[in-house]
Amino acid sequence: MSTTPRSRQQRRTPLAPRKKRGATQLEQAGEGKRLFEGPEEDTPEPCVVSEPIKRAYAIVRRSSNGLGETGGAIYGEVTASSFQRVVDAMGLEPTSIFLDVGSGLGKPNFHAALHAGCASFGVELEEVRWQLATFNLMQMHAAGFGGGVYFLHGDITAAYSLDPFSHVYMFDVGFPPTLLETLADLFNRSQARVLASFQKNLDENYGFDVVLRRKIQTSMHGSTEKHACFVYDRHLRASPVSPDPLFVEGLEKLREPKELQCKDAADRLDASHSKPRRPRSARKTDPYLTPPRRII
Ligand SMILES: C[S@@+](CC[C@H](N)C(=O)[O-])C[C@H]1O[C@@H](n2cnc3c(N)ncnc32)[C@H](O)[C@@H]1O
Repeated sequence: MSTTPRSRQQRRTPLAPRKKRGATQLEQAGEGKRLFEGPEEDTPEPCVVSEPIKRAYAIVRRSSNGLGETGGAIYGEVTASSFQRVVDAMGLEPTSIFLDVGSGLGKPNFHAALHAGCASFGVELEEVRWQLATFNLMQMHAAGFGGGVYFLHGDITAAYSLDPFSHVYMFDVGFPPTLLETLADLFNRSQARVLASFQKNLDENYGFDVVLRRKIQTSMHGSTEKHACFVYDRHLRASPVSPDPLFVEGLEKLREPKELQCKDAADRLDASHSKPRRPRSARKTDPYLTPPRRII
């Protein structure tokens, strides 16, 4: 049965993000919704994709027969140079633990591991894609890849949180709103610091406790389509860890607008300068500064 092609707008409707939460207290107070200033739109900078990463993409391309490079919106993969800009913005380090939610054929996982030397974990729902990714991993090992990548065949919604991953990436253009809402719960229950997603306003639309840091235009393999990748930081207010009492007051201050933070710093400095100084004789000797006595 032939169907009339639906317009782009109509096709998008079932996936259109729903408003989940009302305005935050800060927004209601008219103080803006971002606590940090920073460029939302980035200007494409030249980025360097290393030779080992280029080789990894070639291996995946060869062993997966180009799948993912022609799928466009149906499958969807960003190019190596676009993804390089994403990992740069995510700030991956050797101690990071990277998670790709819906890891497909595994390119982002190989890229993250080779770029940062960090552990890299992918979860993929579709068995055939997971098999292909695992086959790619074997090909990578055969080519001398140092390891650190693991692919799990499974449904991310079977997890309770995203711990212990520090950096989470998801090519979530086609994820349904219900999945994004579940992912928000998982993310909010975990300690991941950075989240890269292709969804705008993850905080307002799906309830993720995040603050937008960067927006990166990405290109797709085998397609003229472009998608913006949004790199978010976990919201400071959302820390699931109870802070030590030593840090509580300072952390409260960090939630205030910049002007109040500035005033607070000046006030505390003033208070410190106007504190009465203890007379010199009343000072105790600092045992750590006293040279050790010679035994002989
Ligand atoms: C567009 S592909 C992205 C592949 C890969 N991340 C990349 O960027 O090259 C999205 C993947 O998410 C997977 N996916 C969708 N829902 C999922 C779920 N609940 N758990 C795990 N994977 C899921 C899909 O099967 C699909 O392979």
